[in-house]
Amino acid sequence: MADDSSRAGARYTNPQLLEYVNRVHASHDAALAQAFVVPEGIPAIQVGPSEGRLLHLLLRIAGAKKVVEIGTLVGYSAVHMARALGPGGHLWSIEYNPRHAEVARGNLAAAGLADRATVLVGAGRDVLPTLAGEAPFDVVFIDADKDSYDHYGRWALEHLRPGGLVIGDNAYLFGQLLADDARARAMRAFHELVAAGCDSVCVPTPDGLVVGIKR
Ligand code: SAH
Ligand code: DHB
Ligand code: MG
Repeated sequence: MADDSSRAGARYTNPQLLEYVNRVHASHDAALAQAFVVPEGIPAIQVGPSEGRLLHLLLRIAGAKKVVEIGTLVGYSAVHMARALGPGGHLWSIEYNPRHAEVARGNLAAAGLADRATVLVGAGRDVLPTLAGEAPFDVVFIDADKDSYDHYGRWALEHLRPGGLVIGDNAYLFGQLLADDARARAMRAFHELVAAGCDSVCVPTPDGLVVGIKR
C-alpha cells in the first residue's frame, strides 16, 4: 500500500533511542551544548534538538534571509535559525518577557550571532506591525501564546513571499487540539488557514510542527 496508514499511529521511539539519534545528528554543536544558558527559574520549554535542527535545515533549504520568530524564550531556536541565514540575512525574534529576552541576547552573542539577530521585547500582536516595513519575509516561526496562533498565522500569510514558510510549534496543543475552548479553536483556525493558503503538513514531532509553503 503506497499510503501506509496502518502505521500512522505507531511509536517506535524511546528515550535512549532519541538520545542516540540526537547525539549522532546534532552533536557537533559547542555553542548550544556548552555556551548556551537557561537560568534557574526560566522554564526549559524550547524546541527539542531535532526540531531545532529541522528548523535550521528548513531555513537553509528555503535560502532564507529574512526570518521572524514569535516567542524567543532564551534563544535556543533562534540560534539554530540565525546560523542558517545566508549572507546579509537577519532574524527578528519577538519575546514578551524582558528577562527571557535579555538572556536570549546573551546566548545569541555567545554563539557569535549578535549581528544577525534582533530580539524585540513586547507582545507579538504589538510588535509584528512594526516589522511590516521589512516584508516580505522568507520564514515566520510561531512559538508564543497559543491563543494567538490564528492571528500570527494570518499575519504570516500576509507578510511572507510566495514560496516562504510558515512554521508553528505545539500544533497538537499539548494534546488539547480538539478541545472545546477558545485556545483550541484558535489553534484549529491556524491549521485551517495555513492549509488553505499553503502546501502544508503537520510533522508528527512530540507536540506537532506545522510547516506550510505559501502559495
Ligand atoms: N522558540 C523558543 C521557545 C519559546 S517558549 C525556543 O524553541 O527556544 C514561548 C515564549 O513565548 C516564552 O518565552 C514566552 O514568554 C513567550 N510569549 C508568551 N506570550 C507572548 C506574546 N504574546 N508575545 C511574544 N512572546 C510571548
Ligand atoms: C509551552 C510553550 C511552548 O512553546 C512549548 O513548546 C512547550 C510549553 C508552555 O507555555 O508551557
Ligand atoms: Mg513551543
